[in-house]
Amino acid sequence: MEGVTDPCFRAVLLALHRPEDLGGACTEFLRVVDHPYRPGQVRKHLGPKTGSIPVGVQLMGSHESALAATAESVLQTDAAFLDLNFGCPTKGALKGCAGSALLREPKRLESIVRTCVEACGGDLPVTAKIRAGFDDAESVEELARAAEAGGASLLTVHCRTRSEHYTDQVDWTRITRAVEAVEIPVCGNGGVLVHEDLERMREVTGCLFVMVGHAALADPWIFSGQEVTAQAAAEFLHEYSLALESAGAGPRKRAARLKQLLKVWSAGGLISDEADRKSWMAEREPERLLAAMEARAHAEAIP
Ligand SMILES: Cc1cc2nc3c(=O)[nH]c(=O)nc-3n(C[C@H](O)[C@H](O)[C@H](O)COP(=O)(O)O)c2cc1C
Repeated sequence: MEGVTDPCFRAVLLALHRPEDLGGACTEFLRVVDHPYRPGQVRKHLGPKTGSIPVGVQLMGSHESALAATAESVLQTDAAFLDLNFGCPTKGALKGCAGSALLREPKRLESIVRTCVEACGGDLPVTAKIRAGFDDAESVEELARAAEAGGASLLTVHCRTRSEHYTDQVDWTRITRAVEAVEIPVCGNGGVLVHEDLERMREVTGCLFVMVGHAALADPWIFSGQEVTAQAAAEFLHEYSLALESAGAGPRKRAARLKQLLKVWSAGGLISDEADRKSWMAEREPERLLAAMEARAHAEAIP
């Protein structure tokens, strides 16, 4: 997720899981305007390869030759797949006719997928992520078929429309409709809150895979369903801070990233109640917040 799940967050989270519990992950989008990215830039975005869980690179754009050239750069990295973002709802994306803007143009969406598939020449799977539609979900089947016709080998369907942004209400029947419209595997997305929802979404919609967004920020163990202690939860956050430090982030940025997670954090009972959450969030001194987290992470190790 753009601005949230950087390579450091991904590395710490992936290290907690076995491929049986977490089948894959994807970078946040690389916005391709009219200039291709070089392999080194893609590598930086992807982060170093750690463990055996496949990580793909996501691109967002509509300039086909720049996307094709960037796809060639992706081929020169460790990326396990190339994903195309047709879901981003922001004004910036719409202005550049990228992300969810392409939900209004299924033919163009199909052509963009095809261009990237051809650029990858069978050496790297190309996947696509759509929302259920732009203003409404009338065309979810048409959009799913467009991605399939373009050669996508897997389709992720975020069941909200662009107009619905990130509303609490979700309609999983839209995922079912996409599953029934295409032959390629579908990964359902939208509104998974707890581990049990992963299986429930598969059962209810028939999708083969499930993608988790927001809920993984509150509980990085949602994929395995493992119950963890408050200390383990603090260790995760401390490890994340250390990884950010190794990547060159100063205390202010590291504390801001931890707060982004603490705002919604639920794992391990690390946050005992809303007053506790408020007191973490109220800490204005970055070093103090980082030291408090380190102390919680090492709490049981103190003799
Ligand atoms: C801040 C933020 C950034 C996001 N960035 C991306 C992104 O870069 N690529 C993407 O495919 N989805 C992105 N998403 C969407 C999520 O991946 C996911 O599709 C969406 O949150 C719905 O899933 P959920 O209901 O489990 O949260 C982002 C969402 C948020 C809130």
